Amino acid sequence: MVGWTLFWCLVCLSGHNLQAAKFEPNWNSLDNRDLPQWYDEAKIGIFIHWGVYSVPSFGSEWFWSNWKGGGSTVEFMKQNYPPKFTYQEFAKEFTAEFFNASEWAELFRKSGARYVVLTSKHHEGYAMWPSKYSYSWNSLDIGPGRDIVGELGNAVRAENLTYGLYHSLYEWFNPMYLSDKKSNWTKQEFVYNKILPEMHELIQTYKPSVLWSDGEWEAPDSYWTATKFLAWLYNESPVKNDIVTNDRWGSGTLCKHGDFYTCLDRYNPGVLQTHKWENAMTIDKRTWGYRRNAKIEQFYTIEELIKELVTTVSCGGNLLMNIGPTKEGTIIPIYQERLLQMGKWLSVNGEGIFGTKPWIAQNDSLAGDVWYTCKGFAVYATALKWPRGNVLSLVSVSDIFKDSNTKVTLVGNEQTGYLAWKVASGIVNIKFPDKSIVISQWAYVLKIRSSRNQELKDPIDIHIH
Ligand SMILES: *[C@@H]1O[C@H](CO)[C@@H](O)[C@H](O)[C@H]1NC(C)=O
Ligand SMILES: *[C@@H]1O[C@H](CO)[C@@H](O)[C@H](O)[C@H]1NC(C)=O
Ligand SMILES: *[C@@H]1O[C@H](CO)[C@@H](O)[C@H](O)[C@H]1NC(C)=O
Ligand SMILES: *[C@@H]1O[C@H](CO)[C@@H](O)[C@H](O)[C@H]1NC(C)=O
Repeated sequence: MVGWTLFWCLVCLSGHNLQAAKFEPNWNSLDNRDLPQWYDEAKIGIFIHWGVYSVPSFGSEWFWSNWKGGGSTVEFMKQNYPPKFTYQEFAKEFTAEFFNASEWAELFRKSGARYVVLTSKHHEGYAMWPSKYSYSWNSLDIGPGRDIVGELGNAVRAENLTYGLYHSLYEWFNPMYLSDKKSNWTKQEFVYNKILPEMHELIQTYKPSVLWSDGEWEAPDSYWTATKFLAWLYNESPVKNDIVTNDRWGSGTLCKHGDFYTCLDRYNPGVLQTHKWENAMTIDKRTWGYRRNAKIEQFYTIEELIKELVTTVSCGGNLLMNIGPTKEGTIIPIYQERLLQMGKWLSVNGEGIFGTKPWIAQNDSLAGDVWYTCKGFAVYATALKWPRGNVLSLVSVSDIFKDSNTKVTLVGNEQTGYLAWKVASGIVNIKFPDKSIVISQWAYVLKIRSSRNQELKDPIDIHIH
């Protein structure tokens, strides 16, 4: 036994002292908050970008800004709309006649995702709920004539999924915002008359478990009164125990403050991070909002999406996978297919994803496309490709295999029994079953159990702060 190392799997101890904590409105205090445990365990969510931009559905959800900024959107408008047409007029065509929140929520549940985040308001300023602070520019007054945030929230929760809301702080063309900007942020009319009341209304009415903030970058967090708002959110709001927020609370907060970091859009660093993070990415490689003229090769394949998930989770992140519904309220079949494929993969392999922790190695130092997680006494190794000659050769786990009782199974295929393995010159060779008898596809998860894998109940936890 001398010289053997124990391979511990980190156990998250967060969530135990949430009630007791009282946060001060400064980052030092807020950054001490424990991450609510549900979020780390969930690993995968669905992001939905839906709003008035889904009507032109051309270019991207930045349509309005692109149009005012020149470029190909100007030409698109010239070709397709009368000269005096305004962006506001698109809202009438945001009909959502096929929007059935229960059908969407059922699809999201079938995708295997554990949470859903909807754009409650994007940079265009249009509220997807009957906000008192967005008179005539919300989904009840113009467009669908419905409370989209409310309907989707009820349906998502009925499917046992967690509900979250995206919210943009800035609004491109809001006169109050532009006037504050002109004052070099010395005035805060927009914050006090629009943003704060609107965020309180959202939290009080819909009680989301994620507040995914965005549009923060032009102004300092002091302009947004971010720390004061977050202290209220964490101390007093009806969601104080469950809520998680990201890192977009003012210029300079990105990748620095918040329950989880998003850093860049599509952030996937490929190495272990010391703070919980999220890879917010899009199934349509180019945009978040729906594009009518998207081409099939511009969508990620299921293999690519599984790779995103597996690499993200191994490095301590969650994956937030985006879809853009149409103005009619449909989710086009290519998105449906990708979500259902993800669900199919997770229904076989979810054991190596949900509730796991990063392991001491992220990808194998020999087989770089094999990624690790762990849970309790098991280490999971996900091979993104079926191994050549049915033999997978690994190095990072070689110490575990010094124990001759180490057991390896192919997750979801336990009927094939324990897999044979052999160590030669420090390389562990694991014999896969014949592919024809395996139900797994796209990526293959091995479960490795040894008496040398130990659960470590010790507050050395990379996730907490
Ligand atoms: C929405 O879809 C569900 C499930 O398919 C169905 O039972 C329900 O009747 C639909 N609701 C409406 C208003 O069409
Ligand atoms: C709801 O989901 C959680 C995990 O997110 C699971 O533990 C629980 O059993 C589920 N409940 C139902 C009723 O499906
Ligand atoms: C804002 O700052 C800019 C650049 O520092 C300066 O030119 C401008 O006069 C300032 N405006 C106001 C209203 O203070
Ligand atoms: C592990 O993954 C990283 C990031 O994808 C990659 O750069 C590296 O080459 C991989 N390691 C090996 C041994 O392939």
